[in-house]
Amino acid sequence: MRRGLFITFEGSEGCGKTTQIRRLVAWLEERGETCVTVREPGGTAAGDQIRHLLQHAPQGRALVPEAELLLFAASRAQLVREIVLPALDAGRVVISDRFLDSTAVYQGVARRLPQDRVADINAFAVGGCLPDVTFLLDMDVDAAFDRLRRRSRPADRMESEPVAFYQAVREGYLKVAASEPGRFCLLDAARCEEDLARDIRKILQERFHGFFTR
Ligand SMILES: Nc1ncnc2c1ncn2[C@@H]1O[C@H](COP(=O)(O)OP(=O)(O)OP(=O)(O)O)[C@@H](O)[C@H]1O
Ligand SMILES: [Mg+2]
Repeated sequence: MRRGLFITFEGSEGCGKTTQIRRLVAWLEERGETCVTVREPGGTAAGDQIRHLLQHAPQGRALVPEAELLLFAASRAQLVREIVLPALDAGRVVISDRFLDSTAVYQGVARRLPQDRVADINAFAVGGCLPDVTFLLDMDVDAAFDRLRRRSRPADRMESEPVAFYQAVREGYLKVAASEPGRFCLLDAARCEEDLARDIRKILQERFHGFFTR
């Protein structure tokens, strides 16, 4: 059986990950692909509890960065084995709204945990299950926040950091992307939704020609 395709979207809050994933899934399903969409943290029963603790529960406010790192990793370890690998084995397209690069950037760069330790924990959590391609939606931090203000839902814990934190996130992402040019596709997220969606489709068709024409 044809192995599936594992696609992840990364980028700071408000850059348009969820918007592009929705468009991509619609396109893929029109072409007859079966998509499995997951978001991080969460995506499993246990992972959703971890998500609640990390993002919304009052108990999560006291989490130290080390605990935060391990909770993200725990959620991801469960997601990979319970959802992602079985779906790839069944030939599906798996699209994840954030994945291990978020941890490398948020905990390793923005929270300043030792990056080599973060990389080890990431590797242990995913057990070799790496994305086939990662779209990094990059844009100016202030412009992304303007978008979020327009979206008007209350900020969660990870969205309530000072501006310098998000600047560090942006730079961290660019660095991670530069270190793995084969996997990352860097996109200018300030462009209009439709143009970005078209580019993403084009990149996928070029890179995974064999997958889409089997
Ligand atoms: N290319 C675009 N141009 C203008 N506005 C956009 C674009 N893409 C998304 N938006 C709008 O910006 C807001 C944030 O988009 P979206 O929720 O997709 O971002 P996100 O990366 O998923 O954010 P989060 O990290 O908070 O989940 C939404 O209101 C969306 O409609
Ligand atoms: Mg989103």
